[in-house]
Amino acid sequence: MKNEQDVERQKLISSVKLINSQGYLHNLIIYFLFFGSGLVIGITLSFYLKDLPLNLPPKQFSNIENQPPPPPPPPPPPPPPPPPPSLPPPLPIADRIGLEEFLKPPPTMHDMTEEELLWRASMVPHLRDFPFKRTPKVAFMFLAKGILPLAPLWEKFFKGNEGFYSIYVHFLPSFNGTIPEDSVFHGRSIPSKEVQWGEFSMVEAERRLLANALLDISNQRFVLLSEACIPLFNFKTIYTYLINSKHSFVESYDQWGPVGRGRYNKRMKPVVTIEKWRKGAQWFEVDRDLAIEFVSDRKFFPLFKRYCKPACYSDEHYLPTFVAMKFPWKNSNRTLTWVDWSKGGPHPTKFLRTEVTVDLLNQMRGEKQCIYNGKPSNICYLFARKFTPSALDRLLRFAPTVMNFG
Ligand SMILES: *[C@@H]1O[C@H](CO)[C@@H](O)[C@H](O)[C@H]1NC(C)=O
Ligand SMILES: *[C@@H]1O[C@H](CO)[C@@H](O)[C@H](O)[C@H]1NC(C)=O
Repeated sequence: MKNEQDVERQKLISSVKLINSQGYLHNLIIYFLFFGSGLVIGITLSFYLKDLPLNLPPKQFSNIENQPPPPPPPPPPPPPPPPPPSLPPPLPIADRIGLEEFLKPPPTMHDMTEEELLWRASMVPHLRDFPFKRTPKVAFMFLAKGILPLAPLWEKFFKGNEGFYSIYVHFLPSFNGTIPEDSVFHGRSIPSKEVQWGEFSMVEAERRLLANALLDISNQRFVLLSEACIPLFNFKTIYTYLINSKHSFVESYDQWGPVGRGRYNKRMKPVVTIEKWRKGAQWFEVDRDLAIEFVSDRKFFPLFKRYCKPACYSDEHYLPTFVAMKFPWKNSNRTLTWVDWSKGGPHPTKFLRTEVTVDLLNQMRGEKQCIYNGKPSNICYLFARKFTPSALDRLLRFAPTVMNFG
């Protein structure tokens, strides 16, 4: 009995085991199926999701890494991004911006502030070779009160030389005259400010002229002229002389006595000592490098503005001292503008109509010897002053025979 019972029990146990092992197999299959489909879903999802941006801010990443307290509730979803702006239609070929547009000088009248103008004027290309054909130009910069009385002479001087010069005129802001449309001076005035004779505002106007002229990348030489100045030679002679010169023409010398060293203010020490103090004519001619240094000077300019006031005249001391101290090797130390101080006093001789003769002009053109590019030359002055409006008709008459133009 007991044996039979045991046998039955064994059968029962083994059938239960069989059932259990079958169940186990069954579970295993379900498990694999489940795992497998999970894997497939996972892979499929990851293919779709990898194209979507992951919007988790970095903070939440670090939270996950450091097993932190539960993350804060997610921020409200950002508003949907605005639809991308539709691209403008491509420019027609003719309107494309190339180097040509970039090189065009802006109109002489503009809305730039003084600081903006100086900043722009001080820019220098780091590559010194031009990737285009650059014809160097001479910038003629006129510092004038009002109408230019000798303009007809200058018109004749410039005629036929277009492309080799630029003109800039700094009128007094109160000037309200009109310049005829067919004049070379038309549309050439720059934004101006008040100028007082002998005051620092004169130097500021000179710098303003230079800065405006620097905006034209073709300008290579820069001449400062007054309304009482005339050219002593024709355009080609003056152009060749300036463009080929190795030096700038800022008159600069050390003069003892009240109108030289006597104007020095010792509060300029230690930047400028009395040994470095220089004097020279206001009417300068500089190359592009020196013009850029002038508009970029932040050291000497404010010092002279503060300490060189009448009877110290900054227009006769600032540039001569600045160039002698900083760039002596660039300077010829002489002026190109003939003037007669022989009569004494604060103003030079003014030539009236009857005083303008062929002899006078020839004397200005070649009475002296000087050094040009290291060699003796008898062309020392290219311009002369001061001529009154009454001198115009005689100047026009002598220009073709004496000066070879007109
Ligand atoms: C132009 O300026 C002068 C003074 O410089 C003045 O007498 C004249 O009335 C002004 N003309 C006009 C149209 O503003
Ligand atoms: C001009 O003067 C400076 C000194 O101020 C001198 O170093 C330079 O050599 C002079 N230039 C010429 C061409 O003589």
